[in-house]
Amino acid sequence: MEINYKINGNINKIYIKQNIIPSIYKSIKNLDSDRKMLLVYDPNIDHSLIEKIKNNLKILGTKIFLMPLKGLKKEKNEKNLFKIIDFLIKNDFTKKSILISCCGGVIGDLSGLAASLYLRGLIYFHIPSTMTSIVDSCIGGKTAINYKNITNSVGNYYHPKSIFISYEIINKMPEREYKSGIAEIIKCGLIRDNKIIKILETQEKKIKNKDFKTISSVIALTLQTKIFFVKNDIHENNKRLSLNFGHTFAHAIEMATEKIFKKEILRHGEAVGIGILAEIYYAKKGISKIYKAVEKLLKIYNLPVKIQCSKKLLLNIQNQIYTNLFLDKKRINSIPRYIKLNQLGNVAIDDLKDDTLINETIYYHIN
Ligand SMILES: NC(=O)c1ccc[n+]([C@@H]2O[C@H](COP(=O)([O-])OP(=O)(O)OC[C@H]3O[C@@H](n4cnc5c(N)ncnc54)[C@H](O)[C@@H]3O)[C@@H](O)[C@H]2O)c1
Repeated sequence: MEINYKINGNINKIYIKQNIIPSIYKSIKNLDSDRKMLLVYDPNIDHSLIEKIKNNLKILGTKIFLMPLKGLKKEKNEKNLFKIIDFLIKNDFTKKSILISCCGGVIGDLSGLAASLYLRGLIYFHIPSTMTSIVDSCIGGKTAINYKNITNSVGNYYHPKSIFISYEIINKMPEREYKSGIAEIIKCGLIRDNKIIKILETQEKKIKNKDFKTISSVIALTLQTKIFFVKNDIHENNKRLSLNFGHTFAHAIEMATEKIFKKEILRHGEAVGIGILAEIYYAKKGISKIYKAVEKLLKIYNLPVKIQCSKKLLLNIQNQIYTNLFLDKKRINSIPRYIKLNQLGNVAIDDLKDDTLINETIYYHIN
């Protein structure tokens, strides 16, 4: 399956294939480049795939360098950003050179930022390796590092020329990385395309068994939803903001749990699942029919619906989430904003200003 989409007047491509190697090969062969490449990859990915990519690129007569970088949120920092940039400088990369990232959202965001900054932009391709990166972070061009303990505080917009989605990667990725991305799929279903929700509800077995036809059609529908919101609002001034559904709470939860547990407790997608529930809870002032339906769907795919913590830490986590909500990047003055789901396929940006309800929402989502 191939999807073409237009951003900034350029046609970009997404390939969803059982075997992506021929598509990568063809894309680079037809490109006006100096065929010098840096492949930044996550070392947790099955190495045979990285070898396969490397060996096929070598046939093109290219000079290919490899850089492993682990997809841990704490690695999404300025040190690794400059590790890539320093490497490009040292090896005399030009604007016609290529950076390929094969990784999840963490190293994807970092590599994309490096690709955008070096000489104000070199050729960039992305091979997403987790479900979150496949259905969400690979597209839309958002790149960033976390700086001064603030998620994505330094970033840019830069779009990969092509995105290669590999069934081989989907098949081999750990269950947790597969399931985490389903929260972002649910999000797209709720904010625009109910067909996605129907497939998730009726094709549970096929999705859990990673049936290629079913999963590639869900991926394509989700990416098309994202393209719909991003297309005419790359810089997130209005329409694109809808994609932040669940994210005001999710970012606050991610930062709070990392700070208190001193390690990553929730994957981004897992936090988004809880964040979606929290934003529905806040919007409807408690449990509603839609809340229950989404909670059921998250549970079907074994996604958390609450933050797990001991009684001793409860107050601490609650306060930290509350504090973090005020770091929301969509805030106007000091009031954080969230995406309100009015009904299926109908969302609007709204203020988070009812303090009692904010605290009740946070408290309800801690177990
Ligand atoms: N740019 C965007 O639009 C956007 C959207 C959503 C999320 N994000 C960012 O993405 C990040 C989360 O990304 P993620 O969920 O993909 O996680 P990740 O990149 O942190 O990867 C999660 C874990 O899986 C491992 N891993 C990755 N691919 C693997 C594979 N194929 N096989 C085995 N292990 C593998 C990694 O080493 C890591 O331990 C967050 O930092 C978030 O800010 C960005």
